Formats: sequence, C-alpha cells, structure tokens
Amino acid sequence: MRILITGCNGQLGHELQRLLASGTAEIGPIPEAYADADITAVDVADLDITDAAAVDALFAREAFDIVFNGAAYTNVDGCEAHEDLAYAVNATGAENLARACAATGAKLVHVSTDYVFSGAEPGERTELDEPDPISAYGRTKLAGERAVRAACDRSFVVRTAWLYGYVGKNFVKTMLRLADSLGALTVVDDQLGNPTSANDLAYELLKIALTDDYGIYHCTNNGICSWAAFARAIVERAGYDPDIVSLCTSEEYAAAHPDAARRPAYSALANAHLAQTIGDEMRPWDVALDSFMANLGKLGA
Ligand SMILES: NC(=O)c1ccc[n+]([C@@H]2O[C@H](COP(=O)([O-])OP(=O)(O)OC[C@H]3O[C@@H](n4cnc5c(N)ncnc54)[C@H](OP(=O)(O)O)[C@@H]3O)[C@@H](O)[C@H]2O)c1
Repeated sequence: MRILITGCNGQLGHELQRLLASGTAEIGPIPEAYADADITAVDVADLDITDAAAVDALFAREAFDIVFNGAAYTNVDGCEAHEDLAYAVNATGAENLARACAATGAKLVHVSTDYVFSGAEPGERTELDEPDPISAYGRTKLAGERAVRAACDRSFVVRTAWLYGYVGKNFVKTMLRLADSLGALTVVDDQLGNPTSANDLAYELLKIALTDDYGIYHCTNNGICSWAAFARAIVERAGYDPDIVSLCTSEEYAAAHPDAARRPAYSALANAHLAQTIGDEMRPWDVALDSFMANLGKLGA
C-alpha cells in the first residue's frame, strides 16, 4: 500500500506517521493492512499543496492508494486578516489534492473542523446538519470540504475539533506554559466542544480510509466541556490547583482581544457516521487527556 501524508510536520501529520511506524495507537493496534505500507510524508517545503502543478508532478512521479491531507492554515485568528492565504491552502490546496486523487484513483482522507458550524443552538451537530460558519477559518474549511467532495468521489471529509498532539502548538501546551510562567490564567467558559487527541483521530482516520463508505464524518473524543473546564483538567493533571483558572465570557474575551475570530458557542460534534460504519472507538476526552499528559514528557516536541 502506498500512502501520501501532506502537512506531515503538523500535529496530525506527526501522529499518523507515529502510528504507521509503530503499528499501534493509544486506542489499540492499527489495521494489519498498513504493515508494509510505503509512506511518502511531505510538508510545505517539499510540496506546497496550493501549487497545482507541483501536486500533479508528484502524483505523476509516484502512485498512491491513500492520501491523508494534514496540510492546512490552522491559525484561526490569523485567518481573519489573511483569508485569501487561508483559502489558498484550505480550499484550493485541498481541491488540488482531490483532483490529483480522482485522476489517479487514490482515496483522499481530508480533515475539516467543527468551526464550519456557527454553534448558535445548543446541542451536538451531526453530519446531516447544515454548516454556517461565522469565521474566516470556518468559511475556508467549508469551501475545502465542498471542493474535495465535488472533485473526488472516493473522498472522506472528517471533521474534528479542539485538536492536540504531542508535536506542535496547541491549547494544552499553551495552558501548561501559562500556568508555569504566570501561575494564573483566565479562560472562556461559555464555548462548549470536544477536546480531541490527534493520536485517537489518526487511529480512526487509518480505519476509515480502508472502507468504501465515502462522505462526511465527525470524529472527536467523546464528551463535552468548556475551554475553561478543559484548562482546569489540564493544569490539575500537571499538579496545579485547578482554581488558578479563572472564568470569563466570550464577550469579555472579545473586548480584550478585538482582532480575534468569533468562535461557536456550541461546537460539539456527534460521531454519528462513524458509529454507523466502523464504530465509534474514540475515547472520552478526559481519558485521552490522561494518556497525553502521561506521555507528553517522553513524546512532546
Ligand atoms: N488544530 C485544531 O485545533 C484543529 C481543530 C479542528 C480541525 N483541525 C484540522 O485538522 C487538520 C490537522 O490540523 P493540525 O492541528 O495537525 O494542523 P497543524 O499542526 O497546523 O499542521 C498543518 C501543517 O500544514 C502545513 N502547511 C501549511 N500550509 C501548507 C501548504 N500550502 N502546503 C503544504 N503544507 C502546508 C503546516 O506548515 P507550517 O506550520 O509551516 O505552516 C503544518 O505543518 C487540519 O485540516 C485542521 O484544519 C484542526
């Protein structure tokens, strides 16, 4: 089996490579089908996915059975000021990969986000709910989803949320850094979602990719919390008093950070399609966080 991973230096890209190299995830062993996989892992310096000619040239040189697109412009606040650049990566870049996959018969696993929803109404969103993004990031990711589905029949669009991995920047590491340097932090308590381990997501992506059940999937760790509750769980596991995390509202945060993107109030996702197909093995978010905190010293970078 020949596999391409784009954005391989990102959080998800690293976990996909870790699982393929070791044969196992924290949830359990990955499918045997990957045992002898031939893996090409590239990031922007090797393959800029916004460059259609470069994408086509790679697919002409090498044949792939499955492509995992981990490349994205993920700076949610940065997207507000640089929506064109974000669109180039999140929509046009994804479309370039989808066209190349369709032309060569490869399957495409493309990753998207809970921020395609406005989250105005309480409750979990399923794959059947209509997206209505309120941020530039969400708009560019939704455009990417639609471009991928239009260009490639053999595509999986997998929405995840609040992602953290061992390698790269994320909310968990930011909370630990602030707890260490400031000893106190203030975090929004009125936005609810699903913290998700990149190790768990990578495991499910490898399983989804072996099926022919194409379409949209939600894939997050199970259970819902606020950013503040997530922050308290993180600092508590690192040995701090959880009360060093003070609560604030989205309104208060926006007043202090006028350039920040608007974020959904309720962006929790239900893994409905996953449950109907290969089964939802995603762990509860606090159990996945336990593993992450236990392993971070050894695996973090
Ligand atoms: N992080 C989250 O909380 C979150 C939540 C929901 C969904 N997602 C989605 O999950 C997926 C994986 O996210 P992640 O957190 O692993 O992302 P990440 O850590 O930001 O990694 C993305 C990678 O893509 C690379 N990249 C950027 N522009 C590129 C280009 N034009 N061509 C090729 N590579 C390019 C980045 O390189 P540079 O770093 O050099 O730019 C980086 O190595 C993305 O689709 C993201 O939208 C993430």
